[in-house]
Amino acid sequence: MTVLVFLDPRHPEGRIADAAAPALLATDLGATRGDGVFESMLAVGGQPRKMGAHLDRLAASAHTLELDSPDRGAWERAVATALSEHLLRAGTGEAVVKLLLTRGAEGSDAPTAWVSVSPVPAGARERSSQGLAVVLLDRGYDSTLAERAPWLLLGAKTLSYAVNMAALRYAKANGADDAIFTSSDGKVLEGPTSTVILAVEEDGVKTLLTPELESGILPGTTQRALFDAAEAAGWALGYGPLEPVHLMEADAVWLVSSIRLLAPVTSIDGTPISSSPALTEELTALLHEAL
Ligand SMILES: Cc1ncc(COP(=O)(O)O)c(C=O)c1O
Repeated sequence: MTVLVFLDPRHPEGRIADAAAPALLATDLGATRGDGVFESMLAVGGQPRKMGAHLDRLAASAHTLELDSPDRGAWERAVATALSEHLLRAGTGEAVVKLLLTRGAEGSDAPTAWVSVSPVPAGARERSSQGLAVVLLDRGYDSTLAERAPWLLLGAKTLSYAVNMAALRYAKANGADDAIFTSSDGKVLEGPTSTVILAVEEDGVKTLLTPELESGILPGTTQRALFDAAEAAGWALGYGPLEPVHLMEADAVWLVSSIRLLAPVTSIDGTPISSSPALTEELTALLHEAL
């Protein structure tokens, strides 16, 4: 049950399309080259969560790729159209809202832009809340590359996710549930579809830590919302650089993202690490309040 709404200047509220029928030209550069950007956000009861942060990141990704994006209002109207159509067809359950933007068909200078809404896959969050076995995978570049090599588009949410999906398959083929990328200089980066967060308590000070954006990771909207809420609740915050030893010695480690929210990591490369159901509960409650 997927609802598709194309952004189309002739349809200011967005043009609803049949998700079971062909809708893109086979020459669309998003399909042929992965040349485009996207966002995935959660909607609850027909209301998008953190839409402002997702639209900001979409605009930043589009800017990095020098892609023209429809204006914010056009995205907002298409999302509203797609969510009300999804409410009619599928009811009020949680939904995944994707915003997609490609460079358009070969030879045209018009980008292709659409919104899709589909139900959150059943059981995905419940399964990951049980705890994830994670493997560390080498991403093959050092943590200072982003600044030196802007053409690599590090930190943009591009449609070229084949590597991220391959990393997840590799993790699963090796008995794990998920992966954390590391840099060639030994720094912790991010998961293929998530941000890494860890908690440590020292001398009574509770701190949340995450890798620094300068290492070329995607700026996570869930991490940002959680950090803002945690800071207001008295937590200290820190931003990398982090190494695997910090994960092994933390009080708790999570992979966080918009759809799955906080997923506790329970082992790394087969070694059990400390986790804390109480902290997961506390931070999940803070995140729910913030969303
Ligand atoms: C590479 C990567 N890092 C982090 C995230 C988490 O981002 P957000 O919290 O905005 O969903 C994602 C989300 O899909 C991702 O693909």
